[in-house]
Amino acid sequence: MAKLDFHSSQRGRRQRRAQSLWNRRARWGIFLQPRDEKRQVNFGIHKGQPAWQDVPGEYRSILRRIIVTQGDTEPASVEQQKMLGLSCPSLYDLRNIFQVNVEEGRHLWAMVYLLHRYFGRDGREEAESLLARRSGDTDNPRILGAFNEPTPDWLAFYMFTFFTDRDGKFQLCALAESGFDPLARTCRFMLTEEAHHMFVGESGVSRIIQRTCEVMKENKVDAPSDVRALGVIDLQTIQRYLNFHYSVTLDLYGSDVSSNAANYYTSGLKGRFRETKLEDDHTLRDAMYPVSEVVGDKINTKQVPALTALNERLRDDYIEEIQAGVDRWQRVIDEAGIPFRLTLPHKGFHREIGNFAGHFISTTGEILTEEQWRSHEFEWLPSPKDYSYVQSLMSGRVAELGKFANWIAPPVKGVNGKPLDFQYVRFN
Ligand SMILES: [Fe+2]
Ligand SMILES: [Fe+2]
Repeated sequence: MAKLDFHSSQRGRRQRRAQSLWNRRARWGIFLQPRDEKRQVNFGIHKGQPAWQDVPGEYRSILRRIIVTQGDTEPASVEQQKMLGLSCPSLYDLRNIFQVNVEEGRHLWAMVYLLHRYFGRDGREEAESLLARRSGDTDNPRILGAFNEPTPDWLAFYMFTFFTDRDGKFQLCALAESGFDPLARTCRFMLTEEAHHMFVGESGVSRIIQRTCEVMKENKVDAPSDVRALGVIDLQTIQRYLNFHYSVTLDLYGSDVSSNAANYYTSGLKGRFRETKLEDDHTLRDAMYPVSEVVGDKINTKQVPALTALNERLRDDYIEEIQAGVDRWQRVIDEAGIPFRLTLPHKGFHREIGNFAGHFISTTGEILTEEQWRSHEFEWLPSPKDYSYVQSLMSGRVAELGKFANWIAPPVKGVNGKPLDFQYVRFN
């Protein structure tokens, strides 16, 4: 089994605990942010009460549901990614995916701790079910759609950690505001690790773009077939992967208008992104929020009570952050002087949940018939041919010290001050 190098790590104690998993002497710590004795419920009808240290009886079943739904995503991503070590582009990348997977496993553990500690027998049963479900299993799948999609290659992995781990961040931020203090403290801890997952994703895609641009410039080619002939991933395929991962991740936020979301908020269980930094009444009694809907062949915006639009609001906060990341990828292309624009597709493109579900919307926001949409499907989303091309580049692992696969540029620097040719993983 491969071992991680965690020596001289900046986050040494936490990471050495992760290493113990690999040693199969796993004593997983429970990771909570320290308790703030003065903390209060900061929003909803219980605003101003001391934060709850125990589960309020009337919210027991919804709280359990929230924790189970969050917990279910954690092992799902490990299941989705577990074969990728066999095709890693370098030891550096292999080390990073191990760290991501260990930490997701620990996030599951943190949620299971809450279920066991605070929810008695039904909590233990829910925890068992978390172990029984499997990503993509037709009989017993994971709860949320994006977590049943395969992650078949490293481009998909980096896209997933950029787009879908960032959904994780926003959900955790909303739960870190919870009036149920043990949940808030656990989520605060998990958030410290999510940042690294998103770094792995953003820098991974960025390095692929950089390598593609270098090869395009050196060889003066721009047609996708010529780019592919040189063994790198054409920018058009990167755009299609982006469209796919963005759209399936947008669905994770749920319906645009949701009475559940309103209930979670009103009862003080799930807040908004940066709730305590927002300057309003934190009850949203009279506030309104815009949501989109499809009327005939048009997309209209209408104002709805902000309480019911909390999913949409969290999705909008997410989109803002995603756009900034895509702009950073664009800079790599611009600096290479290549005239290509990476864009986020329209919010309604390829959606299965919310007001856009059931409609056929183009990447630029036109409402199409199903037939029209299908005729463009593989201009917008990766085709089976795209996947097999990308996977053909990743047929084996690159495990020599300091070597990187041809389709990806080396990172700017190694991990924890180590050089790029450091032995990040040992094979015993
Ligand atoms: Fe996680
Ligand atoms: Fe994550």
